[in-house]
Amino acid sequence: MNTRTVSEILDISLKTLRLYEQYGIIKVNRDSNNYRNYSEEDIKRLRQVKLLRELGIPLKNIKGIFEKSFEDNKVIRELTIQLKAVDNRLSELESIRNTLVQSVNDALFTSEDNSNIYFENISKCLDQNLENRRKWVDRWNFDSWSKSYDTSVKKNINDDLRLFEGYDYVLESIVEKVEESNGRKILDMGCGTCNIYEKLGKNVEFTGVDQSIEMILVAKRKYGDISLRLGSFLDKPFLENQYDIIVSTYAFHHLNDLEKETAVNYMLKYLKPNGKILIGDLMFESQEERLKKKDGFLSDGRVDLWEIIEDEYYTNIDKLKSYSELLGCSFNYKHLVNFTWLIEIIKP
Ligand SMILES: C[S@@+](CC[C@H](N)C(=O)[O-])C[C@H]1O[C@@H](n2cnc3c(N)ncnc32)[C@H](O)[C@@H]1O
Repeated sequence: MNTRTVSEILDISLKTLRLYEQYGIIKVNRDSNNYRNYSEEDIKRLRQVKLLRELGIPLKNIKGIFEKSFEDNKVIRELTIQLKAVDNRLSELESIRNTLVQSVNDALFTSEDNSNIYFENISKCLDQNLENRRKWVDRWNFDSWSKSYDTSVKKNINDDLRLFEGYDYVLESIVEKVEESNGRKILDMGCGTCNIYEKLGKNVEFTGVDQSIEMILVAKRKYGDISLRLGSFLDKPFLENQYDIIVSTYAFHHLNDLEKETAVNYMLKYLKPNGKILIGDLMFESQEERLKKKDGFLSDGRVDLWEIIEDEYYTNIDKLKSYSELLGCSFNYKHLVNFTWLIEIIKP
């Protein structure tokens, strides 16, 4: 097929087609008279390039995707980067929108012309967005931790606080609870590399969800055929009333108090009636216990260790209990090891 026909069929300009060739994204064969002759394969590739461009992926990265198509999960990685960029932009626009709504409503309350104040508000909002954009990274670096994660948790590497001590015991305690309840359809939130999967019997239907694409890719390499999803505790549920049990180990403490409440609400939506949330994670039984532990670290001169704890959001169990009971759920908990507790929230 010649260049003009391809341009018309795909609605890609002649200039752009030439650019793709210059970039090495496609390599078109030429006839004996030196005219370009696009093959079916070329057309297929051009359709894919067009789609990726519409998603906003730069040409340089598209070239990378096609260099060894689908090898080493390049496509998944590129799309994930783009997805994060879109999510980030959406939240920026949402905050600009909220600021504008607030400013309009404030202006309705006053007869004076306060345009300066409103422009200042918008400007502050834009500065804040810029600041957030700079900080916008996987804060705890799960993507870069993914390759060494299994070794580090199993061998307690770089773990002065012994946070992962008894890692297998914690996962097995959750599995025991799953077996007690005869749960078949299981969702693992913040699944990481899915270590709990191999401890669950083969007759469960398992889905792992994590916000880190690299963690998920490690899980995919390990267990090929399991169901995995990129997603967050804070995403609206992709299914409702479908799961018997939600398990979550060492992930919940990355959510602040408000996010934890949102996450509990969403997890309850995933569950069938009487379904259970089982969380094995770092927690304090109460605010008093938290303060006692803090005093202990400070009087031992280990501010550094307390700062590691403060960098995350260990659950206050009594707070989560009150919140869950407010939603009509039953709530049980028990201590497992060091900072790790197991809690069970049962949907009414
Ligand atoms: C310490 S790892 C635990 C992984 C696994 N559950 C385990 O027990 O080995 C914490 C995991 O939580 C995930 N995570 C953190 N915040 C999350 C969120 N808001 N939504 C989904 N996953 C999250 C991270 O990406 C990471 O894979």
